[in-house]
Amino acid sequence: MQRAVLISKHIYSDAVDYLRGRVRLDYHDSDEGLPAAELRARLGDKDGLICQLTDSVDAALMDAVPNVRVVSNVAVGFDNIDVGAATDRGVMVTNTPGVLTNTTADLAFALILGAGRRLGESERYLRAGRFKQWRIDLLTGWDIWGATLGVFGMGRIGQAVARRGKGFNMRVLYYDPFRQSEEVERALGIQYASKGEVFSQADFVSLHCALTPETRHLVGPAELNAMKPTAVLVNTSRGPVVDEAALAEALESGTIAAAGLDVFEREPEVHPKLLRLENALIVPHIASASVATRTRMCVMAAENMAAGLAGERPPNIVNPAVLG
Ligand code: DGY
Repeated sequence: MQRAVLISKHIYSDAVDYLRGRVRLDYHDSDEGLPAAELRARLGDKDGLICQLTDSVDAALMDAVPNVRVVSNVAVGFDNIDVGAATDRGVMVTNTPGVLTNTTADLAFALILGAGRRLGESERYLRAGRFKQWRIDLLTGWDIWGATLGVFGMGRIGQAVARRGKGFNMRVLYYDPFRQSEEVERALGIQYASKGEVFSQADFVSLHCALTPETRHLVGPAELNAMKPTAVLVNTSRGPVVDEAALAEALESGTIAAAGLDVFEREPEVHPKLLRLENALIVPHIASASVATRTRMCVMAAENMAAGLAGERPPNIVNPAVLG
């Protein structure tokens, strides 16, 4: 008998086409996620779940649907899934790494450029009809070319951002609990630094770490106070990595110059102060949002699912311990 899979939310059709014929599909083809009770009810007779970062997959859900063997997340991050609980229950968890690296790095760099050169504020200024004449100090910002870039987290995306920084002649400092080899550091032209040095020396700090108990509120009042008053913070990782209230306060008081944010602590809510502040460039979690990348992410999630349910090793398994 064919395995049954629930797709919790709308995904690109290439992935749906790939799955049809391989599994029996229950496709919730909607941009609205399923309420928790409905997700649980519809998973009752399923072997797999294709979910997104808006779905919370915790131990209680897994206990309620013990037949589910594969949880395939359409994202590289998987903090919405209790991976420890999945591993304890023998449930495979998969994600979509690699394919979104450059698309995400592009957006991180766009936020570096946009926040540094005050693009959001400039556009609002012009659209509001306030551009009456050229002025020597009109909307002056901070140079990116030749500045110091601090990359927090030197995984795939951090490296891709570092490469872009080198293209802008930046000095690139990085912190990561796992230091890169000398060859990688040399090839990328990056310099290892302590967490404190990254925050105090960088003109632009870009965050590229996963959300874990260790990185929750990694950027709080102490880190913001350590930054230069002309510095810009960019976050395309996960919202809770930054203490959003502390950041709003720092932007309002001029502790730092600006921020470029793709992610928020309580998405889709955004701290009301950030919505008002001109020096916050904010976008709705779109770092990987190119048509090609989002399509590929969906197809990868489908491939992971099909492999897992066929008894093969899914190409992107997060908890290989379940395979024994
Ligand atoms: C991810 O993949 O984790 C992003 O946040 C969404 O692309």
